[in-house]
Amino acid sequence: MQLPDRRYLAFALGWVVIGALPLFAGFTHWGWELSEILGLAGLLGCLALSGCPVRPRATMPTTLLSLGRHAVLGWIAVGAAALHILLALVTDHTVIEYLKPTSPLYQLAGIAAFLLLLFLVATSVASLRRRLWHSHRNFQATHIIIGCVLLILLAAHVLTTGRYAGGYPRRAAVIAVTAGAIAILLIRRRIVKTAAPDATVARRFAFGRHSKLIVSAIAATMLVLTIFVPDRAGVALREPLLTRSAALPLTFDHAKHVAVNCLACHHNYADGRGFDACIHCHRGAGPAIKVGVEARFHDFCLDCHRNPGPRLVRHGPVSGCLACHVAEPGVTKGIAGN
Ligand code: HEC
Ligand code: HEC
Ligand code: HEC
Ligand code: HEC
Repeated sequence: MQLPDRRYLAFALGWVVIGALPLFAGFTHWGWELSEILGLAGLLGCLALSGCPVRPRATMPTTLLSLGRHAVLGWIAVGAAALHILLALVTDHTVIEYLKPTSPLYQLAGIAAFLLLLFLVATSVASLRRRLWHSHRNFQATHIIIGCVLLILLAAHVLTTGRYAGGYPRRAAVIAVTAGAIAILLIRRRIVKTAAPDATVARRFAFGRHSKLIVSAIAATMLVLTIFVPDRAGVALREPLLTRSAALPLTFDHAKHVAVNCLACHHNYADGRGFDACIHCHRGAGPAIKVGVEARFHDFCLDCHRNPGPRLVRHGPVSGCLACHVAEPGVTKGIAGN
């Protein structure tokens, strides 16, 4: 009996790791974690679709996915991404904030990635494909270039959330895997003996007359991906497209934070930056404020919740929205319990 291809095993392992990630990254609740797992599954699907491209028959290395399976995996990725969004919205209605134009750019990147994925999968259906592209090569070039853009948007979305890919080494690992998945497209085809050998160098790529264009697009994609390695890109991607007029309602309970020194949060009591409510001051457009409110506060609050200091035996919410953002506005429970 023939053993299954080792690459299938690597793929299965990827699913297991991804399925377990959200559960170990600080469990929130099932609805939320399931949504996260679906999102990560969608990402893995997209990486696999790029890393296991459809190739002409009788080439080496042999393809992992037949055309049929490639298409099925495409629909699975679309389904997982759609459920990721729906489930997040249903379990935590604050997520609606991320569908508005005031949403941070990295969330809009996620939405754009979903729409591109839907476009790629829908236009690959044979009847539509033939109507839109008369030549297969044109379809292939469009398909691959849009796929590259999709992977860039996905990297922006997943890396900036920081829940799984926080920190330099993990970010670099995600980028390496993404770049690797695209690089697989560049493996030259080696035609199995019987077929005619290709003459030109460019034609040894499986892209025909658009080889130069596609190879440049892939190289450009890899270059763009390296932008995400340093943290700076993350801060920029967390700025909203349009500024919100009002702050999101926030419940902050001092009673839950008695173990934390006042000055760890109220830095302005000590550093002479002035006296005001943190959010009022940080939402202001003054020149002193360098980092947007979403990036500043999500990092600040969640960094401690995700990596609590040695004296803290518990931690607050690590994910979801409702624990911090609630419907009743302006509830900040003071130290005297007011
Ligand atoms: C974990 C962070 C954190 C800690 C620790 C903390 N606070 Fe706060 N505090 C906040 C936040 C967030 C608000 C809400 C401010 C807003 O809505 O702009 C707030 C609001 C307040 C307010 C209301 C007026 C204002 O400045 O906004 C007072 C007074 C206050 N805190 C005093 C204290 C004192 C005293 C301590 C120490 C015993 C303390 N806080 C500890 C984060 C913290
Ligand atoms: C009077 C204005 C003001 C108030 C009030 C204020 N901040 Fe700041 N804060 C600043 C400025 C200015 C900076 C530096 C520029 C920046 O990070 O955008 C800063 C920086 C920070 C940083 C980054 C610190 C670092 O070392 O990187 C954190 C975290 C922060 N503030 C949290 C808070 C919290 C939490 C509160 C309320 C409990 C608060 N700030 C209240 C003005 C203020
Ligand atoms: C230095 C560490 C630290 C920082 C900074 C911090 N928290 Fe917390 N937070 C905690 C700890 C520890 C708990 C758990 C307390 C408990 O359960 O007894 C907690 C609990 C909470 C809870 C309650 C969760 C629940 O299940 O009831 C909320 C809400 C919360 N934090 C919001 C915030 C917000 C908003 C900020 C930023 C303004 C923030 N925290 C900053 C340490 C921190
Ligand atoms: C650990 C607590 C915490 C969690 C969890 C959290 N946030 Fe926040 N968020 C804050 C704080 C604090 C601010 C700054 C104050 C504000 O605007 O309410 C903020 C700001 C924002 C802003 C920017 C508001 C503005 O004024 O521009 C958006 C948008 C936002 N959060 C959305 C979300 C969404 C969506 C989720 C869930 C995926 C979420 N947040 C989860 C604490 C949290």
